[in-house]
Amino acid sequence: MGHRLGRVLIAHEEIARRVRELGLSLSRDYDGKNPLLVGVLKGAVVFLADLVRATDIPLAADFIAVGSYGGTTRSSGVVKITADLSVSIEDRHVVVVEDVIDTGRTISYLKRNLQTRRPASLKVVALLDKSERREVEVALDYVGFTIPNEFVVGYGLDYQGFYRNLPYIAALEEDSAG
Ligand code: PRP
Repeated sequence: MGHRLGRVLIAHEEIARRVRELGLSLSRDYDGKNPLLVGVLKGAVVFLADLVRATDIPLAADFIAVGSYGGTTRSSGVVKITADLSVSIEDRHVVVVEDVIDTGRTISYLKRNLQTRRPASLKVVALLDKSERREVEVALDYVGFTIPNEFVVGYGLDYQGFYRNLPYIAALEEDSAG
């Protein structure tokens, strides 16, 4: 069975407006702190790219990639780092940037892992919160939008590697016609 793009859940203008607000919040909360934004590959790249341009404070960015042991994060629930940060985060004000929080397992693992590296502070900004799906309780410090439990693509989120380049977020629907 194939898939096709369904309705637009969050239009580009709506995303842009919310990203500007999040950028203002970060600029205010991290003024004078030279924060390090940590993008979680690959989905968060698009969001991070726009978010940093919505801030007006000195900051740095780095990236981390996560995978899972034995299939998907969803089936195993066990997360591993497949590409680590390129810098030390000791005594840095760290903000993890995620595109979507689903079960919460990835961000929960990442927070625990990064905390052992003794950052000055550690917070999370997530564009999308699929809160209905949560299996692990985790505090999110900044959230763009809370969304229903639907498979969504666009603005960094993919289906089999595709659709990340859409400027909006849309539902992906099963196409019985193939
Ligand atoms: C997504 C998202 C989070 C994770 C959230 O990444 O970017 O890292 O899943 O799910 P969880 O809360 O259930 O752990 P994905 O595995 O789709 O990888 P990608 O960002 O490279 O597309």
